[in-house]
Amino acid sequence: MRVAVFSTKPYDREFLTAANQAKVDGHELRFLEPRLSLDTAQLGHDAAAVCAFVNDALDRSVLEVLAASGTKLVALRCAGFNNVDLAAARELGIAVARVPAYSPEAVAEHTAALILSLNRNIHRAYARVREGNFALDGLLGFDLKGRTIGIVGTGRIGICLTRIMRGFGCMVLGFDPRQDPEFTRLGGSYVDLDDLLSRSDIITLHCPLTPQTHHLIDAKAIGAMKPGVMIINTGRGALVETRALIKGLKSGKIGHVGLDVYEEEGDLFFENLSGQIIQDDIFARLLTFPNVLITGHQAFFTSEALTAIAETTIQNISQFEQTGVPAHPVSVEMLA
Ligand code: NAI
Repeated sequence: MRVAVFSTKPYDREFLTAANQAKVDGHELRFLEPRLSLDTAQLGHDAAAVCAFVNDALDRSVLEVLAASGTKLVALRCAGFNNVDLAAARELGIAVARVPAYSPEAVAEHTAALILSLNRNIHRAYARVREGNFALDGLLGFDLKGRTIGIVGTGRIGICLTRIMRGFGCMVLGFDPRQDPEFTRLGGSYVDLDDLLSRSDIITLHCPLTPQTHHLIDAKAIGAMKPGVMIINTGRGALVETRALIKGLKSGKIGHVGLDVYEEEGDLFFENLSGQIIQDDIFARLLTFPNVLITGHQAFFTSEALTAIAETTIQNISQFEQTGVPAHPVSVEMLA
């Protein structure tokens, strides 16, 4: 099958090529660097499948262009599918596939890395020591043992993180409309969202971005939290209302923020913009806080995860070619 791979980085090319070559009936992969948008959708012409990533726009207008040029499958090389208009895809006869699980450990471990770095001010200590500044003022941390962490979304990643944080001796609270007995078995306790917000020292988001979870963390939610709370988001940017986050940081209500995702990351992340002036004033403000640590959507970025993503993506395309249905389809019903 001819596949147009959008938003290609060197690592995508390497891992997808390896997974494709491992198959006898490999596909014809056309690697394209641009992000998928209305301006670039034409580059997918003649490709029966389009392979896309988290910040590729698959709204109705883009899907219409793809459908008109013969695209029958959108194979997302990620777990989240909030960037696809699933209803439009169905109307246009385009199947959508994703990689539901590749390495939940990768994201959970990155979340733990953000928590530990913020908690012990490792990001500040690193810069200080390089400058010959060995003073400890401002680096005071807190023990994780005995602290309460609230996990919003106890799916694959939430469960991995529960295991990790229980290892540190944390009390783990969870909120999820679908409860998993494994969470309780690991020593977690399910509570309602209000309870989680008001009782947690650390709140971390691992639910998908849907209309229901958009701006889940807003001014009201922050108002209900403990003073000095740590907020971590490695889920999707728009789970958090960034302006409310900044207000909470300025007032001192929020003690630490760790982000791997950002509402408007599409214009920033995955590119080297070090020679340019950042035009996003909200993002620029976030960067000024000493108690904010941001990574550029790299939680998934381990070799194990990239191998699994590439293999499942190729499997989705192969199965669609053979049966008309990808191995891991995404449908509009999954939003309910
Ligand atoms: P999953 O599907 O295994 O788990 C998601 C959980 O969230 C489910 O248990 C679901 O019931 C729950 N949920 C749904 N609505 C909720 C709500 N309103 N409140 C609380 N919980 C709710 O997904 P997985 O693999 O754990 O991934 C979670 C999210 O992490 C993905 O949707 C994706 O957006 C994000 N992600 C981020 C990555 C990164 O590199 N930063 C990489 C992979 C995923």
